[in-house]
Amino acid sequence: MEFSTIVMSRYATKKFDGRKIPETKVNELLDMVRFAASAINLQPWKIKIVTDQKIKEQLRPAAFNQEQITSCSHLLVFCADPDYDSLISRLGVLLKKSGAPEEMQKNVLGMAAQFAGKMSPDQKLAWSQAQTYLALGNAINGAKSLGFDSCPMGGFDPKEFSRILKIPSPLLPVMLCPLGYAADKPMPKVRFPKEDVIF
Ligand SMILES: Cc1cc2nc3c(=O)[nH]c(=O)nc-3n(C[C@H](O)[C@H](O)[C@H](O)COP(=O)(O)O)c2cc1C
Repeated sequence: MEFSTIVMSRYATKKFDGRKIPETKVNELLDMVRFAASAINLQPWKIKIVTDQKIKEQLRPAAFNQEQITSCSHLLVFCADPDYDSLISRLGVLLKKSGAPEEMQKNVLGMAAQFAGKMSPDQKLAWSQAQTYLALGNAINGAKSLGFDSCPMGGFDPKEFSRILKIPSPLLPVMLCPLGYAADKPMPKVRFPKEDVIF
């Protein structure tokens, strides 16, 4: 499918038909998510995958009882990771392993430390959240490209999700992305015209 067709035909699915997505396809999608862009390549996100129906049922009331939570095949819980000390040190290990020139490794890690060092905890969290949305973008378009559907969902209680899923601090659930095969029909696309968007 052309990328433009993927973007134009993807829609926020409200109900899935309960069929399971093959794990190979989910893994392909997770690779697309992992390859999302991020500032200084710090990849400040983690994803919890929920497939257990009983847990999905427990979560649903904490997401305004939205049906996608229980009718989906896989529920991805995108969490922002604001622990920049750990992110920078993990990136350091990765850069070393990748065989990147030492000068480049030093520059990247120095820039990351400088940038993160200036931020308050709240700014770190906001920075991580913003980038987690980019990873989510890959997930929703990636799902369509692989032949299944998704819904980006911010309507949920992060505290309740953290409690039920035992998400360790300081990770913060930011967005949900239920995946599955749609059992509804897309609404007509409603978008501001180009002249309203471009100025
Ligand atoms: C940050 C964010 C939060 C959203 N939360 C929900 C949600 O809780 N439930 C839902 O059904 N759709 C949710 N949506 C989907 C939007 O309603 C949807 O993307 C928008 O209406 C445009 O429709 P389309 O994606 O089908 O083109 C959310 C989308 C975003 C980006």
